[in-house]
Amino acid sequence: MKLHPIFFEPEVHSTIFLIINLIGSIIVRLIIHSWPLTIFWSCFYIIIVFLINHSLASGRYYLPTKNIHDKTVIVTGAATGIGRICAIRFAKLGARVIIGVRGQERAERIAKELCKESDGGTVIGYDLDLSSLANVKKFAEKIECVDILLNNAGGIQNTYSVTVDGIEKQFGTNHIGHFYLTQLLLSLLTNGRVINVSSIVHHIVPSRGIDYTFSKLKNKYNSAEAYAISKLAQIYHALELTRRYGIKAYSLHPGTIMNTNLNQFRPLIERIIITLFSVIGRTVEQGSMTSLYCALSDDAKPGHYHSNCQVRKPSQLALDNYRAEECWNESEKLINKKIK
Ligand SMILES: NC(=O)c1ccc[n+]([C@@H]2O[C@H](COP(=O)([O-])OP(=O)(O)OC[C@H]3O[C@@H](n4cnc5c(N)ncnc54)[C@H](OP(=O)(O)O)[C@@H]3O)[C@@H](O)[C@H]2O)c1
Repeated sequence: MKLHPIFFEPEVHSTIFLIINLIGSIIVRLIIHSWPLTIFWSCFYIIIVFLINHSLASGRYYLPTKNIHDKTVIVTGAATGIGRICAIRFAKLGARVIIGVRGQERAERIAKELCKESDGGTVIGYDLDLSSLANVKKFAEKIECVDILLNNAGGIQNTYSVTVDGIEKQFGTNHIGHFYLTQLLLSLLTNGRVINVSSIVHHIVPSRGIDYTFSKLKNKYNSAEAYAISKLAQIYHALELTRRYGIKAYSLHPGTIMNTNLNQFRPLIERIIITLFSVIGRTVEQGSMTSLYCALSDDAKPGHYHSNCQVRKPSQLALDNYRAEECWNESEKLINKKIK
């Protein structure tokens, strides 16, 4: 019997472990009434479960030590979360780091913070709003060289909205913004790496695939599906970059990290549940490791999807070369139509 790829994810192992423990302890308590449920034994048991769970949830570690003094790295969405940690790590390894953050003043302020946090690393901040093609172009025009492009920024929208250019917001920001940025920098990236931070959530895209008109979603907005579509498109993008141009492009799931800003616009009740579930997730540092792995490790595989610092099988839909090509063509068409 073949297990679904998501059964290989640390957060799934951790969840199963916790559920088994919960059910197990209820059964044991029901069968063995004399079970020594003293405070001491209960605390002991909880600590052991917590420690095992923590090591299951953490996943594999990748702590790069490579000297990258000669490299220029671009990180989008580096103000917070995974992007911020990656930018600090790149700067600590000696790279010249350019961060793309919304608002020029904010970008400069955050760049200063990251210089300090990386013990004097080189971090430059430029305004970048991926939900505006004109803004993406302005950002790209400032770039003279780049060796590693980490397409990390991303957002979740609960209700239907569109970008400045009239594209469904999650697809327009998470995929189209990064797609356009990569296109504009393509000539600088022939020997470089492009890393797309996708998500395990791409698995939920229905087998009919991506509807590029977003007509169904427009009428009855399914936020999770729209997010998943944008993340599937990012996997196709990496696959096609490698297939078309031989560029080392990678897509990845960073893990489940509950304490970033990603879920900030979710309803309060969902945020409370997410916080409670943080016990099955990773820290932001652990969540940055697969991005760093794809950016720096010789073991990462171009064109492939990664998770937990190794190559992983994505959904069947994500492996469809025909759909990857279609996604590329549709993205190009959409951008050309909007920038005319
Ligand atoms: N956390 C998880 O469990 C998880 C799981 C799977 C995948 N991911 C992916 O990992 C990536 C990083 O997420 P995170 O968890 O670190 O969340 P985060 O802290 O919210 O970071 C996302 C970053 O993207 C930036 N961003 C959003 N919209 C933007 C736009 N229009 N233009 C430019 N930047 C924009 C945000 O900037 P502002 O500060 O200006 O809002 C923020 O700095 C995302 O692509 C996310 O989809 C996360």
